[in-house]
Amino acid sequence: MKLAIEQERLASEIETLAAFSDAEAPAVTRVVFTPTDRKARAWVKDRCTDVGLVIRDDAIGNTFARWPGSDPSLPIVGTGSHIDAIPNAGKYDGVVGVLGGLEAMRALQRAGFHPRHSIELLIFTSEEPTRFGIGCLGSRLLSGTLSADAARKLTDNDGASVDEVRRNAGLTGELEQVKLPTGYYKAFVELHIEQGPILEREHLPLGVVERIAAPASLRVTVEGAGGHAGGVLMPDRRDALCAAAELILVLEQAARTSGAIDTVATVGICEVFPGAVNSIPARVRLSVDIRDTSLARRDGAVRALEEACRTVSSKRQVTIHSEWLNADAPAESGSAIVAALRQACEKHGFKFLPMTSRAYHDSLFMSRIAPVAMLFIPCHNGYSHRPDEYASPDDIARGTLVLAETLSMLAE
Ligand code: GLV
Ligand code: MN
Ligand code: MN
Repeated sequence: MKLAIEQERLASEIETLAAFSDAEAPAVTRVVFTPTDRKARAWVKDRCTDVGLVIRDDAIGNTFARWPGSDPSLPIVGTGSHIDAIPNAGKYDGVVGVLGGLEAMRALQRAGFHPRHSIELLIFTSEEPTRFGIGCLGSRLLSGTLSADAARKLTDNDGASVDEVRRNAGLTGELEQVKLPTGYYKAFVELHIEQGPILEREHLPLGVVERIAAPASLRVTVEGAGGHAGGVLMPDRRDALCAAAELILVLEQAARTSGAIDTVATVGICEVFPGAVNSIPARVRLSVDIRDTSLARRDGAVRALEEACRTVSSKRQVTIHSEWLNADAPAESGSAIVAALRQACEKHGFKFLPMTSRAYHDSLFMSRIAPVAMLFIPCHNGYSHRPDEYASPDDIARGTLVLAETLSMLAE
């Protein structure tokens, strides 16, 4: 079988998809279920039907585009990723796995391959946490990691529930029906940009992901006392932002001193109320993101934060409340898929690096119901979640070729 990737067409499809954006180019903003996101998804679905894939959307809007295999009773081989993009993002995060996955299937079709197992391209709903505060909404529901009831309780930043938002987008089924049975997928393999600098630094074109780090996130609310920035003297203050600042630094220190480079902690949102230059912060809301390949170490950083909440609260006479959004276990890749990816790299003479994914991905949740693995391609300077995120057409095509080869091995 002679596999060839149509590199220029793939690069031009990535550009076309990037134009579905609520931010000015080169930035991409595509928040789930916005009109822009829905138009982008419709465009991708049209590209799937162009080549005969059979489309199904589930009740949360995950799209399955299936190339039926010769034995439909066999478990399916899945690939894919997401096309939603955080505010002020780039063109490649998720998109490479969706459009690369589609091109991999087209390349197999052009090469005359006939799969025995059906191959399915998945476009997951809301991999990004932008709208509902929790990442991987679609794959959490697919895998049963999040129950339908828990999903229904989620609201967006305007207070609209998941049910309201998805029904407005025309999705009428029941969320209970989203979960897939174990055994539905024989394998799931996701192509993605690395979102880190290692491959580029090592001059290696591909990374075979062997594990995905465990993410946790929580919201911390600090309630102090507001007042006049001139009138209230320092000894009398219960400044919520100063208390929050202490928590942030404790968390940073816990991550820096965990004993492993794999511990990372980020406070990415800090909302200050009332937010006036001459008013003492009365309330602060922090979003906290903590990750590690080791659950024990990740939870060590979480405990350091919880301990700091207690000490800072009593020292500064503020009330601190924390609410978990998620605390997920790490995932190990399936050995058979890793072996297939390695074999595909070797067949084409591409060097690769065994890697850990420090970002989370839908594959983390798919791993709860199927063997998974991921294939990384380099991205310039490791930049991601920013407008200058860049992966070269050569690297994208190389990843797509290895993906196609791997899918053929898994689906024959
Ligand atoms: C995914 O976008 C992540 O934050 O890892
Ligand atoms: Mn992302
Ligand atoms: Mn992604």
